[in-house]
Amino acid sequence: MATLTRRNRRQGANNDKIWKTADEIKGEKLEKGILDAILRIIEKREEKIASRESYGFGNDFLGLLVQAYIEEDRSKRITIDDLVDECKTFYLAGQETTSSMLPWTLFLLAIHTDWQEEVRKDMFSVFGRQDPQCDGFKKLKTPWDDQAADPTEYKMND
Ligand code: HEM
Repeated sequence: MATLTRRNRRQGANNDKIWKTADEIKGEKLEKGILDAILRIIEKREEKIASRESYGFGNDFLGLLVQAYIEEDRSKRITIDDLVDECKTFYLAGQETTSSMLPWTLFLLAIHTDWQEEVRKDMFSVFGRQDPQCDGFKKLKTPWDDQAADPTEYKMND
């Protein structure tokens, strides 16, 4: 299937241009790199299906997208470009937000040592000396719970 997707992929708008700017060439290389990376992951899953190590493309996000790509009902089917675009959005939306949120959180905790203390107490009361587990997170109290409806209001105006 990944071979098929390579063949069926829509040619980019710039592909028929005689002269391309350095940015366009770089952009095309990056786009191809992303496409190839996604197709490689799909190919690995295909191999696992072929060797009967697994019975489907998986029930994670990529697996669901591949299912939608091979959907029999044409009206529900997505194209390979849709699939690649969804992967890009998912990756970028997750990457940028998380990588900004982590240092920002650490910065706020570093300058507000009383918040730090609250969070530390909360973490120890729920997890003790164990590594944090997803299930425990909903038991955590946030320090601003009873201080302000909007967490950004709390302490920001101090
Ligand atoms: C601290 C971490 C994160 C924050 C603060 C955050 C925040 C947001 C916000 C505000 C939106 C827009 C919601 C709207 O349009 O109403 C959004 C959309 C989205 N987020 Fe996150 N997010 C975070 C982490 C992640 C992660 C880890 C993923 C995926 C692995 C992710 C995937 C997405 C996707 C796919 C969308 C929809 C984008 C679209 O509409 O095109 N986000 N996020």
